Amino acid sequence: MKIVCIGGGPAGLYFGLLMKKLNPAHDITVVERNRPYDTFGWGVVFSDATMDNMRQWDRETADEIQAAFNHWDDIELRFKGRTLRSGGHGFVGIGRKKLLNILQARCERLGVKLAFEQEVDSDDEFPDADLVVASDGINSRIRSRYAEVFKPDIVTRPNRYIWLGTNRLYDAFTFDFQRTEHGWFQAHIYKFDEQTTTFIVECPEHVWLAHGLDRADPAESIAFCEKLFADNLQGARLMTNARHLRGSAWLNFQRVVCEQWWLRVPATSPARAGSQPPARHVVLMGDAVHTAHFAIGSGTKLAFEDAIELTRQFQRLGDAPEHIGEVLQTYQALRSVETLRLQNAAWNAMEWFEVCGARYCDQLAPEQFMYSMLTRSQRISHENLRLRDAAWLGGYERWFAERAGVPVSSALPAPPPMFTPFTLRGTTLKNRVVVSPMAQYACSEGVPGDYHLVHLGARAMGGAGLVFAEMTCTSPDARITPGCPGLWTDAQGAAWQRIVDWVHANSDAKIAMQIGHAGPKGSTNAPWDGAGADQPLPTGNWPLLSASARPYLPDGAVPRAMDRADMDRVKADFVAATRRAAAAGFDWLELHGAHGYLLSAFISPLTNHRSDAYGGSLDNRLRYPLEVLAAMRAAWPAERPISVRISAHDWVEGGITPEDAVAIARAFKAAGADLIDVSSGQVSPDQKPTYGRMYQTPFADRIRQEAGIATMAVGAISEADHVNAIVSAGRADLCAVGRPHLANPAWTLAEAARIGYLPMPWPRHYRAAKSQMESLFQREKAAQAQAVAAARLAA
Ligand SMILES: Cc1cc2nc3c(=O)[nH]c(=O)nc-3n(C[C@H](O)[C@H](O)[C@H](O)COP(=O)(O)OP(=O)(O)OC[C@H]3O[C@@H](n4cnc5c(N)ncnc54)[C@H](O)[C@@H]3O)c2cc1C
Ligand SMILES: Cc1cc2nc3c(=O)[nH]c(=O)nc-3n(C[C@H](O)[C@H](O)[C@H](O)COP(=O)(O)O)c2cc1C
Repeated sequence: MKIVCIGGGPAGLYFGLLMKKLNPAHDITVVERNRPYDTFGWGVVFSDATMDNMRQWDRETADEIQAAFNHWDDIELRFKGRTLRSGGHGFVGIGRKKLLNILQARCERLGVKLAFEQEVDSDDEFPDADLVVASDGINSRIRSRYAEVFKPDIVTRPNRYIWLGTNRLYDAFTFDFQRTEHGWFQAHIYKFDEQTTTFIVECPEHVWLAHGLDRADPAESIAFCEKLFADNLQGARLMTNARHLRGSAWLNFQRVVCEQWWLRVPATSPARAGSQPPARHVVLMGDAVHTAHFAIGSGTKLAFEDAIELTRQFQRLGDAPEHIGEVLQTYQALRSVETLRLQNAAWNAMEWFEVCGARYCDQLAPEQFMYSMLTRSQRISHENLRLRDAAWLGGYERWFAERAGVPVSSALPAPPPMFTPFTLRGTTLKNRVVVSPMAQYACSEGVPGDYHLVHLGARAMGGAGLVFAEMTCTSPDARITPGCPGLWTDAQGAAWQRIVDWVHANSDAKIAMQIGHAGPKGSTNAPWDGAGADQPLPTGNWPLLSASARPYLPDGAVPRAMDRADMDRVKADFVAATRRAAAAGFDWLELHGAHGYLLSAFISPLTNHRSDAYGGSLDNRLRYPLEVLAAMRAAWPAERPISVRISAHDWVEGGITPEDAVAIARAFKAAGADLIDVSSGQVSPDQKPTYGRMYQTPFADRIRQEAGIATMAVGAISEADHVNAIVSAGRADLCAVGRPHLANPAWTLAEAARIGYLPMPWPRHYRAAKSQMESLFQREKAAQAQAVAAARLAA
């Protein structure tokens, strides 16, 4: 086959050499616009796993790269005058020049033709090639030429960065954050050979503009960075290696994803008219087809893995022109899934660096900032950090516990963050786990009976710090279903008091009441009745109220838009329910302002179409819910906390966004809320949520940092490891766990045993089970470790 690689970066060179090795008869040329020793950038990093993969395909190249590697384990953070360091992270770095020279030399030895200083405009310049590989990098000309086929989705990110180098040598992957009068800058710093270190400086666009860096030439930009990081550089100079870049050397990262990775150029194209051989194929590879942000440093790895996969498919399906179509199809099918996975992880890490100046730098103490930074991709968990550096994590857990008011000593391990207490107003929870409110639809006339005593009692015994009663309604017409509990009569208040008293007498959990009004989502079936959840009752319906006369489901019952008299009556009902909850002895009160129920229907523009003072702007839409909260706060004892559950994202175009949620949280805070319970969705049946583990936690994180109020995260939090990571990173103060508590009332006790937290107190009647459960988990862990060791040995 005749193969031409346009672009002699890692992708083109590595593919060229692998294919030549696969079959020396192939005629392979790599065409590169630069000279052999000319390149942009400094060092690149990748992981041991990439090296193992490369070793299987070409030991010579892998060995040479390995010999040139700089390996380091530590990550160091320089922040607010402090230096913090943790180990076990395992990176390797190599100079980009060195890497390319190794690949170039190997290509030459194998007989791959290298054509330097040749600018390619079009694949038509190679009319007799069977395969043209567009390995021409992020600004791929070939990709642009066939944009209609490849359908590239290119997103330009808001941060600016400049890729510099220095001769100061560092023994850790170093992050340095510096505050200026206009905002924060950060540097990503890693040594890649015995003389040189990569020094990438990054900041948000507005900070970059405010410093006039858009008008600075490379020398002025370097001078600026040298001054900003003078402490760190200790007199060493910064250098640029981007001579080919015109104007400002500051770039924006561009995330590239392509829908199609290859095409067949028909023989009838002008350049091929009259030619006999079958049509030419063009395939994208490396940065030309996908990019990964340097925050997780995997662009070179992706380029190498593309080259390996394409070679593997030629080896498997046949390396002759007639197989090219099938080979390219398989290559795309396999690589597109794998790269998307990595791009998603890179996205979280990239976003963390984009928002850190606004969201974390001024808010978090250096210790917690370090934790947040290390877990930025949300792929590294709390226990994973322990595996990397147990001493550092132990120190962090002590720091966290101390701040939570737990007396610690260096002799004793501190409790994991999940098991530290949390105080709001005069109420202290023993730990950070909350049984999320979950409707049971098990009442008659709104009175909770034995069912609720057993249900909530069991969960109060199960180890969580706070147990929520389900949404409890303020009037008969405020119910979701006929089975919902209420607080509109004294009999209901007394029935709740019996449950609260039982919980207080038999456990050290606190118990919370959630008060709500179903609004447009009322008068429906229990999920297991008739047509299912959200469907209108077949008989015995009651009239509905909402912000506007719009049904929740397209063919659902139409509510009446509330007038001021309705608002006054409903507010008075909320206050009466609050007084009954206080009298019943609840420790904590929550206002349900989420999920499309009445107050949420006022807040969301999807459900509020009013033209009076309660509709229109977000301020107007919040007016009534804030009025209700303020009235409840006035009726609720000052020493007990109030939280508000909100839907932080409607997951519908034109609905509430996480940015709105920050403004909503600020407004509720000003009206007396102590904590925001951050849920999302259920406001519109058109919602398209992106589910995944801890999927709503980023909203809780953003609200906590930007609105400056305590938050509770909820949604797909299902392991102690999740709770520990969320609380440790300061993404939320509490974690509500719903469905896992339906499956296991003692979820918290079980998770404590699973992670080996032996001081966990158990209810005295259940203590006989504690050590048995702990040793079962210990044995399970030992068996797993043995299996892993055996598998390693076998490999
Ligand atoms: C600041 C920064 C830091 C990074 N850090 C890392 C890191 O730590 N680890 C990592 O793995 N990756 C890192 N990367 C990404 C990495 O550099 C790329 O992902 C990787 O080089 C992709 O390889 P490639 O061969 O696809 O493209 P490139 O390396 O971009 O190679 C493309 C080649 O094609 C040539 N070319 C382009 N157009 C033409 C033309 N028309 N005619 C002839 N030749 C042409 C170019 O000169 C270039 O040599 C970083 C990137 C940046 C910007
Ligand atoms: C059966 C059931 C009933 C629920 N009832 C309520 C409720 O009364 N009030 C409320 O705010 N959320 C309610 N939710 C939402 C949960 O509190 C929680 O936010 C959701 O289940 C996501 O958490 P999870 O992934 O841990 O289950 C309910 C969820 C379930 C599964």
